[in-house]
Amino acid sequence: MLICGIETSCDETAVSFVEAKGGLKRPQFKVLSNVVSSQVKLHATYGGVVPLLASREHAKNIDRVFKLSLSRARIAKKPDLICVTSGPGLMPSLRIGVMFARSLSYFSKIPVLGVNHLEAHMYANLLAPAGEWSRQSIAFPALSLVISGGHSDLYVLAECGSARQIGQTRDDAVGECFDKVARLLGLGYPGGPIIDALGKQGNAFAYELPSPMLHANNFDFSFSGLKTAMLYFLRDNKIDFCKKQLSAKQKQMRADVCASFERAASRVLVAKTMRAAERFRAKTILIGGGVAANSFIRSDFEQAGARHQLPMLFPQKGYITDNAAMIAAAGYIAHCRGDRTTWKNLEPDANLLIREAGR
Ligand code: KG4
Ligand code: ZN
Repeated sequence: MLICGIETSCDETAVSFVEAKGGLKRPQFKVLSNVVSSQVKLHATYGGVVPLLASREHAKNIDRVFKLSLSRARIAKKPDLICVTSGPGLMPSLRIGVMFARSLSYFSKIPVLGVNHLEAHMYANLLAPAGEWSRQSIAFPALSLVISGGHSDLYVLAECGSARQIGQTRDDAVGECFDKVARLLGLGYPGGPIIDALGKQGNAFAYELPSPMLHANNFDFSFSGLKTAMLYFLRDNKIDFCKKQLSAKQKQMRADVCASFERAASRVLVAKTMRAAERFRAKTILIGGGVAANSFIRSDFEQAGARHQLPMLFPQKGYITDNAAMIAAAGYIAHCRGDRTTWKNLEPDANLLIREAGR
């Protein structure tokens, strides 16, 4: 089956063409093209995503991104299905992708399906480098941790296409926390990749920062406390990393703060995920979302996976942060389990929840 995936839930305009086969038992994918147009530079000026600007950029770019992706895919036939992110995400952004997909469906007579962005981050783990059929499979029950700019969620998957939420953040998402802490440290936007790069040169044991809810008897997270702890740490120690010139000593201290922050965030993510894996007897752990790109967090999870002899999957390069190949993959899985929409009834939903199959 040939699928066209479309993603505009936040600040990336993305279109991808993906071949899919194998059904729910053994879904396999071949990415033919995966074009992502990022608006990061535009929003960096404001220190975060401005929803109405994001939507204007999506409207400006979606045509061009679609045409480029179509030409790179070199397809000889019409796609069988159009899959578009219908939520969760920023409403003005979602609306552009959904309206584009609806028009495409109406004029081309190709069916259209709304896809959950969080499910897409989970199944991004099934994608191989462009042009190759994926060989990755998932042993069930599986556990999935989605860590992004808007979510820090844990799900149990009984089978492919069926996810039940068991935990979430009570306040800020971990990606949001990275971005806010980066701002406190005088770093740019988005903060995650910058903290990642600086943290590599720092000592993660230099400072003790809290890991909120580490010992709570549930699978929820809270990251606003960690951000506030960072604010107090800087204030109490009269540290200002925001000034123009930093000495070599101050730069090293900032790297140590970045690494210590990553350790505090990673500690609670790994501990709760491994506890959940034990409770639900998970056979595979799927990590997804932009924060899965973090090298400190990834290394911590890989070590935990090795200790517990549990396969720990991370999406390959190009499929970690927002992209449309993962939307096509999740759309195929949703289609196989029987999800259907039409261009007439497809609506964006900023708070779309993952629906457990059969409910
Ligand atoms: O999944 P994503 O691309 O978009 C959402 O669905 O939100 O995630 C974006 C988030 C941002 O908060 C960004 O700072 C974070 O992922 N991120 C990272 C890294 N790369 C992106 N956080 C930590 N380390 C990274 N290397
Ligand atoms: Zn995302």
